[in-house]
Amino acid sequence: MTGGSLAIVGLGPGPAKWLAPEASAALEAASDIVGYQPYLDRIPQRPGQQRHGSDNRVEIRRARDAVAMAAQGGRVAVVSGGDPGVFAMAAAVFEAIEAGEPAWRALDITVVPGISAMQAAAARLGAPLGHDFCAISLSDNLKPWDIVQRRLRAAAEADFVIALFNPASKARPETIHLAFKLLRGCKAATTPVAFARAIGREDERIVLITLGDAEPSIADMSTLVLIGSSETRFIERPGGPPWLLTPRTYGAGR
Ligand SMILES: C[S@@+](CC[C@H](N)C(=O)[O-])C[C@H]1O[C@@H](n2cnc3c(N)ncnc32)[C@H](O)[C@@H]1O
Repeated sequence: MTGGSLAIVGLGPGPAKWLAPEASAALEAASDIVGYQPYLDRIPQRPGQQRHGSDNRVEIRRARDAVAMAAQGGRVAVVSGGDPGVFAMAAAVFEAIEAGEPAWRALDITVVPGISAMQAAAARLGAPLGHDFCAISLSDNLKPWDIVQRRLRAAAEADFVIALFNPASKARPETIHLAFKLLRGCKAATTPVAFARAIGREDERIVLITLGDAEPSIADMSTLVLIGSSETRFIERPGGPPWLLTPRTYGAGR
């Protein structure tokens, strides 16, 4: 090993203003940037810097390649959208290290946090995550659908606010419908729901609705879906859409 480094960098949900200064510095310092191609496209090209773009489905291979490059002496940055620790590259890199060469464990590795889509969406909506919440990915690429269902049921039963990542894709348009069917069976139809699409980007779109009236097919791979708890409510306001609030105290209004 020749003393390279590996930064696992969160790019935030989209706009440059939501990129942390530490993330910008790590990107500037990198000799090689590794990531899913659309994320690489968001980063200004710098002279002398090599880019290694790949398909979204090859996370572990991409992580292994990045670690190997760092072990060869590269100053490597692996990028993720949002936060790299939330359904993203940080876990893939540490899985590669756990299964890889013993020398990889001595590498200089930094995880640089980013704003998760969940936080960015919550900020747009008001304060939907003001009390206990959980995040569930609806993708069944890396886990069986049975587990997704079990977690949705348990989250509804425990009255968490639920943030749904990866709600649907072209290959699996039905998962969000199945999730809504399940949740409608165990939560009130009046539960507030937000579809927060492409937050921070030009094509941002927010739909506020109730669980009973929601049309799940509006969710795509750029959408984060928030399902309220029994305490979550809309605060109506003049001249704009309502705010979404999950109060800090549970059960105060009962
Ligand atoms: C593989 S996960 C990555 C999550 C990311 N690491 C994070 O912290 O936000 C991708 C999912 O994040 C959500 N997402 C990412 N960017 C988003 C944005 N700008 N607006 C809404 N949802 C977004 C969508 O649910 C998308 O399917």
